[in-house]
Amino acid sequence: MNKDLLTLKDLSRDEISRIVDRAIELKAGRAKSSALAGISIGLLFEKPSTRTRVSFEVGIYQLGGQTISMSPIDLQLGRGESIPDTAATLSRYLGGIVIRTSAHSRVEEFAAAAGIAVINGLSDKHHPCQILADLMTIKQRKGKIKGLHVAFIGDGNNVCNSLIEAASCMDFNLIVASPEGFEPDADIVSRSAASAGSEILVLRDPKEAAAGADVLYTDVWVSMGQEAKTEQKKSKFRDYQINRGLLSCAKQDAIVLHCLPAHRGEEITDEIMDGPASAVFDQAENRLHAQKALLEMMFV
Ligand code: CP
Ligand code: NVA
Repeated sequence: MNKDLLTLKDLSRDEISRIVDRAIELKAGRAKSSALAGISIGLLFEKPSTRTRVSFEVGIYQLGGQTISMSPIDLQLGRGESIPDTAATLSRYLGGIVIRTSAHSRVEEFAAAAGIAVINGLSDKHHPCQILADLMTIKQRKGKIKGLHVAFIGDGNNVCNSLIEAASCMDFNLIVASPEGFEPDADIVSRSAASAGSEILVLRDPKEAAAGADVLYTDVWVSMGQEAKTEQKKSKFRDYQINRGLLSCAKQDAIVLHCLPAHRGEEITDEIMDGPASAVFDQAENRLHAQKALLEMMFV
């Protein structure tokens, strides 16, 4: 596989399938691995994180490795040392690094100068590790991924962009409903749609997107770093809520996904988040298993 996981496109269809299947095996306790014995992995987080940080820390420990958590204020990076110099230096100590940052170009710049594996733990444009856990959750709940109808309701953000790349690779139909001005990245949509064996559509009407869906997926209206747009977004996104009405448009056995953290009462109601269709806490748990399978593939 590629040295880095910066976007989901760094993985082939076969690699994604193997990660999903291996993650299911690891979750079931049918396999043990010490793939990271003797390896130190850095976690450089420039934004808050609950799931990504803790699931990587626990997963790396379970694989026999060591983690070193860093924030920019702990490093000379926060005093102006360049990204390439930081990457070149850390590459002399670490076996790999997980980075969460704002501009996607920062992860790219780091990876270009690093001699070690760089994993994108979320940038403004992509969230590939999240989507590996989502695919695992879908496979566990639905028994398959190919041919399903997934509807993403809301902001065309990092999670949505990576989900679009997954659809083109894993052959599920993806209908995104976003308000005007908040669509997913146009290049990612057109490239993914052109190479997809399935349907990838972006439209406005959440009910149209949800009609007959196997999976309803949403994320916050206001992502980290976009807080200044909160009031403008809240008014535009009012109809983009996963609630009882929208769920009733989907298939009777549809599941609901949310990458979390959720703003209950905004993009999703309590009733749906805590109801029988919700798979959100399995999805959160699956971050651990999917990332362990990813790390095994990268380091063995
Ligand atoms: N879904 C996700 O990445 O959560 P955290 O921001 O808590 O890591
Ligand atoms: N779109 C969200 C995802 C958080 C996991 C954000 O970037 O804040």
